[in-house]
Amino acid sequence: MKQPPTTDYVPALGYHWLTPFYDVVIGATTRERTFKQALIHQADIRPNHRVLDLACGTGTLAMWIGRRHPEADITGVDGDPAVLALAARKARRAGVTAQFDQALSFDLPYPDGLFDRAVSSLFFHHLSWEDKQRTARELFRVLSPGAELHVADWGPAGSLLMRGLFLSIQMLDGFRNTRDNVTGRLIPLFQQAGFDQVQQRQSFSTMFGTMVLYSAVRPG
Ligand SMILES: C[S@@+](CC[C@H](N)C(=O)[O-])C[C@H]1O[C@@H](n2cnc3c(N)ncnc32)[C@H](O)[C@@H]1O
Repeated sequence: MKQPPTTDYVPALGYHWLTPFYDVVIGATTRERTFKQALIHQADIRPNHRVLDLACGTGTLAMWIGRRHPEADITGVDGDPAVLALAARKARRAGVTAQFDQALSFDLPYPDGLFDRAVSSLFFHHLSWEDKQRTARELFRVLSPGAELHVADWGPAGSLLMRGLFLSIQMLDGFRNTRDNVTGRLIPLFQQAGFDQVQQRQSFSTMFGTMVLYSAVRPG
């Protein structure tokens, strides 16, 4: 498998050497089960839907989608081969069938209109504004007309306390890339890429700040 890209690439926990601790840290600090199950519920996945988990990391979301919707066709994609190896192992142990591919979010190896749903969690705050824009356009390209995008990521802080707690994520993943999230730029990001009905659907207070769930529709 290819090596992870080096420039501008922010790995799962900010540094490659922290990757083995990713599941434990995220599970203990982000109310992971609550917000990922809410995202899966929100995505309204139907039998035989083709579902893309963008920047799937260690594959927890893909695995939970597979458990809840065994008839869906699930693909996880991530730029880092180390997390993909963990994702493949977890899915295998859970008896979930999913394909895991290595690629960058703004250069996906899929044809136009392949997917009925794209989901993504804890990802957009890893990207520069330019890469967020390229990624949103790429998601638009790989979704079919009428297909839906469902995203969970850090969002505008629900209180001063949440804003303060989010500083720890900013120190780990960088202030430049994470600023777009707290300043509410994900909604215009998806609108500018061509999506309709872009909305903030739910938010959750966590130990690291406010987690927001968004949805958007690729127009027909
Ligand atoms: C915080 S982790 C989130 C993983 C998973 N989605 C979750 O909810 O646990 C962010 C992931 O984005 C991946 N990543 C960062 N930049 C990327 C890019 N440009 N293209 C694809 N994956 C990327 C990292 O390798 C990492 O696995």
